[in-house]
Amino acid sequence: MAKMAAYMVESGEDVFRKMFKFYKRRDPPPDLRGVVDFSSEPPADKVAPAHLDAAAVSDEEAARVGLRPVRDWRAFSLQGFPGFIFISNPFLRGSQPFWVRQCLKTYPQKPNVCNLDLHMSACDTQDIWAKSAPVLRSPSSGRNQPKTLLEKLHWVTLGYHYNWDTKTYSADNHTPFPADLHSLSARVASACGFPGFRSEAAILNYYRPDSSLGIHVDESELDHTRPLLSFSFGQSAIFLLGGTRRQDPPTAMLVHSGDVMVMSGQSRLLYHAVPRILPTPRGHGALLEDLRPASPQQAAAMLEPVSEEDWMACSVYIQKSRLNMTVRQVLGAGQSFPVAPPSSVTRTDKSEIGGYHDEDPGKRKRSDSDSANET
Ligand code: SIN
Repeated sequence: MAKMAAYMVESGEDVFRKMFKFYKRRDPPPDLRGVVDFSSEPPADKVAPAHLDAAAVSDEEAARVGLRPVRDWRAFSLQGFPGFIFISNPFLRGSQPFWVRQCLKTYPQKPNVCNLDLHMSACDTQDIWAKSAPVLRSPSSGRNQPKTLLEKLHWVTLGYHYNWDTKTYSADNHTPFPADLHSLSARVASACGFPGFRSEAAILNYYRPDSSLGIHVDESELDHTRPLLSFSFGQSAIFLLGGTRRQDPPTAMLVHSGDVMVMSGQSRLLYHAVPRILPTPRGHGALLEDLRPASPQQAAAMLEPVSEEDWMACSVYIQKSRLNMTVRQVLGAGQSFPVAPPSSVTRTDKSEIGGYHDEDPGKRKRSDSDSANET
């Protein structure tokens, strides 16, 4: 891999794109030996423990959003990426199902916006969960049945809704940001040295086994001094983190259910992408065992319990899917949106690969109604 990167740097080719294609390839499948896995013994020459502010979040505040005490988090920094923090599953056992259920049942509801709104009536997308969950729960789920709406969901936006065409946020396209997701985000941000983080926008990505997310930089927010927070649930993925130029070779890392990534400081505006979804390492049974909802007694201390009925549908869904939420603060203190939108796009989407695409990179354009998203 190092050789390939060196060759590509010399030849001036777009190294990130090459690496993206390398990890996306199905036949033969890519060699994953060079991929950093923070859940096992990460390589000491690339990875070091990250310092967190354990006093910034009390154990009770952490537990209320399903997180372990901050002093118990396994947090890492990555050499060459100042400001990037990888927190290997800081969630309390039994609390991830709450967030999975929010992603599947609650957040896709109106007034939030999703890809299905682009080509379906508001009435048809009114209750995606109610229309999909019974089908997912049925014993014949997945067998020669048309896809449920939930399985057609690619993205949901919260708070300031990202405009995929202008690549901007605006004051008049806003709905209330979910309080529970803000609490989770604010606690993670505080522990990482960003007190007072305001969750103002989120993009939720729903990945199927053949999905990928194109190479992009999240630069549409007006204040880049605030971090970008990323929460992942369900199946695993390869995440590529590059530099400020497409010629910079990216580092590949595995992201598993519960992992949290923070992009801040010099790593806030780096190219990144998800070329591949991978089955969870120990199999779906083990994932479900790890994720099993907390008992009502445990849950009483933390989050609203997930009913068995809801979990049955969620667990079928995540057997094949990955969920990712990226939470952003859009405006800095005292900042507001420009009065008139600029005539040209000020916040370039540098990706040349479509957002979600299940085919060859570049075949599907970003404007595809059901293709997600780069920001
Ligand atoms: C991810 O799915 O891990 C990344 C999402 C993003 O970059 O928007």
